[in-house]
Amino acid sequence: MKGLFITFEGTEGSGKTTIINNLKEELESKGYDVITTREPGGGKIAEQIRDVLLNVDNTKMDKITEALLYAASRRQHLAEVVVPNLQQGKIVLCDRYLDSSLVYQGYARGIGFEKVYEINQFATEGIMPDLTIYIDVYPSVGFKRINENHRNQNRLDLETRSFHKLVYEGYQKLIQKFPKRIKVVDGEKPLLEVCEQVNNIIFSYLEKNYVF
Ligand code: TMP
Repeated sequence: MKGLFITFEGTEGSGKTTIINNLKEELESKGYDVITTREPGGGKIAEQIRDVLLNVDNTKMDKITEALLYAASRRQHLAEVVVPNLQQGKIVLCDRYLDSSLVYQGYARGIGFEKVYEINQFATEGIMPDLTIYIDVYPSVGFKRINENHRNQNRLDLETRSFHKLVYEGYQKLIQKFPKRIKVVDGEKPLLEVCEQVNNIIFSYLEKNYVF
């Protein structure tokens, strides 16, 4: 595919949305064709799956059902949004992707990295990001931000502190597994500094790898 697929990962409240929007503006100002999107969701059908996944009333959701729904939403989003835009040569900035499933469902829920990877191989047919930015923010810091910003809580936010600590731990393991693809940025620094760091990583990657 001609375009570039960049994903963003992190624990709750890591500031991904702001960082992605800032990067989009920077890229567009340099003439790049960019779309931003998110998981779960990012398209009409996938957003409906998102509603089921994040509905605070769905406390009885089985962990394998949950993993399958994230994979189903991913598949639909890939087919409807990501792949067509990559084929047009665009840069696709996606808030979360398969790494979230590996960490949240595979590690924190305890299904296992391998099993979750396997169902996602089926869903994605092996499509992986060219580059992933992990915004490193410890869960307690992220939740403090969420409370201060009065963001609505979703089903995953309601999980225990120990679940979110496992999510954090899972990301650390994943970073070690894929050091070439996943670039780590300290998300606890002031937001402007974080944005600058992310932009620098992306622009130096583009210089080396992307023919514009
Ligand atoms: P967000 O849009 O606020 O990041 O919320 C999405 C939530 O869904 C977040 O708690 C992470 C979780 N999630 C998973 O558990 N598995 C996944 O595969 C994805 C994409 C998200």
